[in-house]
Amino acid sequence: MSDRPSWPRQAFVAGEWRSAARTFPVRNPATGETLAEVADCGADEARRALESAVEVFPSWKNTPGAERSRIMRKWFDLMTAQAEPIAKTMTLEMGKPILESRGEAKYAASFVDYYAESARRIGGELLPAPAPFPHKRLLVRYEPVGPAYGITPWNFPAAMVTRKAAPALAAGCPFILKPAEQSPLTALLLAQLWEQAGGPKGVFQVLPALDPVPLSQVLITDPRIRKLTFTGSTDVGRLLYAQAAQTLKRVSLELGGNAPFLVFEDADIAKAAKEVAFSKFRNTGQTCICTNRVLVQEEVRPRFTEAFSDLTAALKVGDPMLEDTQIGPLVDQQGFAKVKAAVEDAVAKGAKVRVGGEARGGLFYAPTVLTDVRRGMKVLDEETFGPVAPVAAFRDEAEAIALANGTGYGLAGYLWTRDLGRAFRVSEALEYGLVGVNDGLPSAMAPHAPFGGMKDSGVGREGGPWGLDEYLEVKLVSLGLV
Ligand code: SIN
Repeated sequence: MSDRPSWPRQAFVAGEWRSAARTFPVRNPATGETLAEVADCGADEARRALESAVEVFPSWKNTPGAERSRIMRKWFDLMTAQAEPIAKTMTLEMGKPILESRGEAKYAASFVDYYAESARRIGGELLPAPAPFPHKRLLVRYEPVGPAYGITPWNFPAAMVTRKAAPALAAGCPFILKPAEQSPLTALLLAQLWEQAGGPKGVFQVLPALDPVPLSQVLITDPRIRKLTFTGSTDVGRLLYAQAAQTLKRVSLELGGNAPFLVFEDADIAKAAKEVAFSKFRNTGQTCICTNRVLVQEEVRPRFTEAFSDLTAALKVGDPMLEDTQIGPLVDQQGFAKVKAAVEDAVAKGAKVRVGGEARGGLFYAPTVLTDVRRGMKVLDEETFGPVAPVAAFRDEAEAIALANGTGYGLAGYLWTRDLGRAFRVSEALEYGLVGVNDGLPSAMAPHAPFGGMKDSGVGREGGPWGLDEYLEVKLVSLGLV
């Protein structure tokens, strides 16, 4: 208990820590213990945050980029100094194994580091005169879109906050955050560090809420919020997209996935099995880009399945605060029930359990390998978001591509091959926003790279210059030299 971080529990609104009329509990999914009661914000807090963001927008927009950069750099330094409390908080509130939480604390800070640099470099362009009008000069200015509203998920309680907030702040947009109800403590810690970094009032605000609807309604219907960014399910993303359309907000949505991992017959089986296991079981299978379907060329399927099953059976399930734990609990009862139901559905339809396939008490579920799977089973057709790997076969490249693309989702897809031509052909044919070739972790420590999906997996990109553009308007100033 004693080395637990001490968490702010109030909302961070207009530069002040404020209580709300109600609180809600944040629970440790590994033990069920209540960690803290935090402010449960609603429409009133949303209105206050909105007014504050609107009020501060002109001054934050006109703050020199170098000064925005300096504050963000200080925020980064504090996040780096506080990496261990941030990591522990994540593990405690959503069950991520501690080594992975330490990695995420660095990953989260890397977005602040990267966009602190961008803040200094947002400029414009000077275009030459159009031919018939030699007296004109065309100036292109990049301006912040305006106050932004972000809704972040529990599976990356720190990195999904900074991947959205850092480009917004760099661009000059005040940012209002509604963190996931399962993991508000990490977000509140980040707000505390922002305050310590000297971030101006109302520029970064954090409003925890058990029910996001009343708060979101205020922010999404108000035309002064100019940007909505959300990571979460496709169903909720569609609803938000429709709501945001009423005020024609800029929107970025990072939604569900159904990632295939294609293992071709020329693969180094030991290496491929290791990478698939890593991509499948990281964060206990709860990342949007985790492998959801393992598709293996028939010739090597038995060898691959054996190697992959051995690795899966050896994964250590347990207390996520222990450094040797590789699989923690599912985040909550809903997540646990989804995983259990997916395995039961597959088994009832004829799948065989090769490894695992059982609950391990509380919210823990054994890492699982299923064979004899086919379309029509939830484990192949839906995103399981848990430690379950269905292994199916394909005959040739054409079938592999057809199977991989045979889903509405398009976030991440993977393949393992040593054939360079195949690597190009297949990666070009996959309808996915991220493709890992012999790489199960394409997003790792890459704040400068684009992240986002096609089709039902979303709209827009985060990371790199693409993530910054999401918060910038492009303005033409046509200047006549008179
Ligand atoms: C996500 O699950 O959306 C984030 C995964 C990552 O950044 O690696």
